[in-house]
Parts: sequence; C-alpha cells; structure tokens
Amino acid sequence: MAISRAALLCTLVLATGFFLTVSSQTVPTPEEDFDAWIARNQAKYEAQNSESTVLDTQTLPGGDFSVEATPSPPQEATCIRTVGKKGSGAKYTKVKAAIKSIPKGNSVRCVIRIAKGFYKEKIEIPKDKPYITIEGAGAGVTILSYGDTAEEAGSTSQSASFAVMSDYFVAKDLTFENSSPPPPGGAVGQQAVAFRIEGDKAQFYRVAFLGAQDTLYDKQGRHYFKDCYIQGSIDFVFGNGQSYYETCHLHSIANPGSGSLTAQKKMTKAETSGFSFVRCNVTGNGPIYIGRAWGPYSRVVLLYTDISAPIIPAGWYNWGDPAREKTVYYGQYKCTGVGADTKGRVNWSKELTDAQARPFLSWNFVDGNQWIGKY
Ligand SMILES: *[C@@H]1O[C@H](CO)[C@@H](O)[C@H](O)[C@H]1NC(C)=O
Ligand SMILES: *[C@@H]1O[C@H](CO)[C@@H](O)[C@H](O)[C@H]1NC(C)=O
Repeated sequence: MAISRAALLCTLVLATGFFLTVSSQTVPTPEEDFDAWIARNQAKYEAQNSESTVLDTQTLPGGDFSVEATPSPPQEATCIRTVGKKGSGAKYTKVKAAIKSIPKGNSVRCVIRIAKGFYKEKIEIPKDKPYITIEGAGAGVTILSYGDTAEEAGSTSQSASFAVMSDYFVAKDLTFENSSPPPPGGAVGQQAVAFRIEGDKAQFYRVAFLGAQDTLYDKQGRHYFKDCYIQGSIDFVFGNGQSYYETCHLHSIANPGSGSLTAQKKMTKAETSGFSFVRCNVTGNGPIYIGRAWGPYSRVVLLYTDISAPIIPAGWYNWGDPAREKTVYYGQYKCTGVGADTKGRVNWSKELTDAQARPFLSWNFVDGNQWIGKY
C-alpha cells in the first residue's frame, strides 16, 4: 500500500482548506468513542452469553426489502480449548498453543475460549485448520495484540497481528490490535495490520479491530461482520474481500486530510468482491475519503449508514488513475449525517436507486444464506 503515499500528501494539501472549515467541530476522542462502544457491547455480550448462539433473525431498516437468509441452528461444538492466564484453570496460557493443538485437516467446529486479559502474540491460523472459533470475554476485555509494521515484518500482509488462512473461521467478543504507533503523514513502511482474513465464509460478532494505517486486511473470501468496531486512519478496511458489514462502527483517527476509510481491490469485472456497509456508523477525525480505488473495479457501497466523520467532499479517489473512474462501483443509499452529503461528490459515484441498492442489502451479497449463523 506504499504507492499511495504521494497521492495522500497531495490530498493533505488539497484538503487543508476544507479541514479548516470543519476543525472547530467537536469530535469524540478515540477513547471516549471506544469506551462507549465497549460498554454497549459488553452489555450485549452478557445478555447473550447464557443464551444459545442462534442469530437474531435479520431485520432490515425501512422494511423495503425482504431477506431470504434463514440461519440454521448452530452445530454443537465437539472440540473446546480454553486459554487464560496462569492460575485461571484454563488448559493453555497461549492462544498459539491452543491453535497448535487442533489437528490438521480438522473437520469439526473447534471453539477456543480465551479468558479476559491481554495476550501479546503474533498468530496465523493455517489453511488446513478450518472451523475454528475464537471467543473472548468481550471486546476490550480479551485483547490479542502485537506490534509489527510492514517494514519490520517484510510486507503489509505479514505485519498482521492475527491472520486467518482457513475457511469457516468465527471470532466473537474480543479485540484484535496492532499496537504500532500511528505513522506520521508520508511515512513509508509504517502501515501495520491488526487482522488479516484470507479464508472464505468467515464471521465476526462484536469484535474490535484496533490500528491506524491498514487496520483490517479483508484480503479475500466472503465475510460477515456484525456489530464490530474498526478503528484506523488510512485505508483501514482494505483488500479484495467480498464482505457484508452490518451495524458496525467505523472510527477514523486520521490526520487532517490524509485518511481513507476503505481501499477495496476488485481487479476484474468478473470478480464478485466488494464491501457493503449496512446500517453502520462512521465517526472520528477527517476529512477523509470514503474510499480509494486500490483495484480498477473497486466496489464499495454504504447503505443506511450514519456518517458523522467529516468526509472530503469528492468522497472517492481514483488512486491516480483516471481510467478507474469508468470501472469502479461506488455508491451511497439513504445515508445520514454531515459526511453523507453527496454535493461535491465525484460524478463517478452515485446515490443508488432502490433497485441498485437491493443486491447489497442482504446476506445474499455474500451468499450468506448458505453459511451465516452456522457455527
Ligand atoms: C450509531 O450511533 C448511534 C447514535 O450515537 C447509536 O445509537 C448506534 O448504536 C450506533 N450504531 C452503531 C452500529 O455503532
Ligand atoms: C464528470 O466530471 C468531470 C470533471 O469535473 C468532467 O470533466 C466530466 O465531463 C463529468 N462527466 C460526466 C459524465 O458528467
């Protein structure tokens, strides 16, 4: 993601004027915002903890669209691992050791329960260990953290604190963090991924992803994010994943004019990847772009989303390649908040019609009726 640096510096200069007009606005500090989110989700976690893991029936805002998704009851987990600090009674003290204990070619749902605490580990779940669930005691309560930058790790991808190569991964109620300090504008190699997903059919519930530049590498595969918190500065949800983000909270800690929420990388017309954000919140510092066209067919839509973070009026950036303006797919649908104002948007983005919005408004966007809720 280093090639974008010059463009961002450009943006910084161009956006400074705009920033001056918005800087007097009060924006919550990352801490305040995160704490409020934690409190809400901890309450939900406690309420749900004793119940089954069957999902709520998905309901859509406005009632405009029907949803075909019908989650089936969860499978009984036949494989449980516990992780906790010494003296907690847990079998493992390291998450890595619990993952290692699951056999290659695993074919049953394996749940790794991680007690509250801070775990400084760098972890990768290999491709041959599908059906793993990582379950914490709450976001902000169970924290898995590491602090590699791209420069230190050798690449952006390798900087991830936690990476998943396998299919049918589930994460619930914990924080994934990259603790590297936010890089100053123009720094090279300082991007630092908190979490990378390359497996297919992954689900995330009430998970916090904390980082700055390149926080969540949604690299490839179909994914479902529900009630998650994602904090970052530049391209903080990025990659070629095909993902449905529902009621998630995106929080920008960007320096003035140097940030972007997304950098989606759909490469060809035929690929089905893209990011759909439905009923999400966008808060924090700006002004930032909603998206930058990392791939020529980059596809990002925000629906029924409240955007209170200041957005660069153009909204979207062509990654320095005007040809991409003809092939990207960028849109909003019934969004609210100061940042949702589409006056000043590039004319290669659009307010979606009902018909255009429809495919992005249900789990069908990720073929979710086949796999969401099954774990
Ligand atoms: C978005 O913000 C509103 C108002 O602060 C809050 O009620 C709601 O729960 C938030 N939604 C998400 C998905 O964070
Ligand atoms: C879009 O905007 C650009 C730059 O302002 C302009 O040159 C172009 O003609 C516009 N295209 C359409 C289809 O309106």
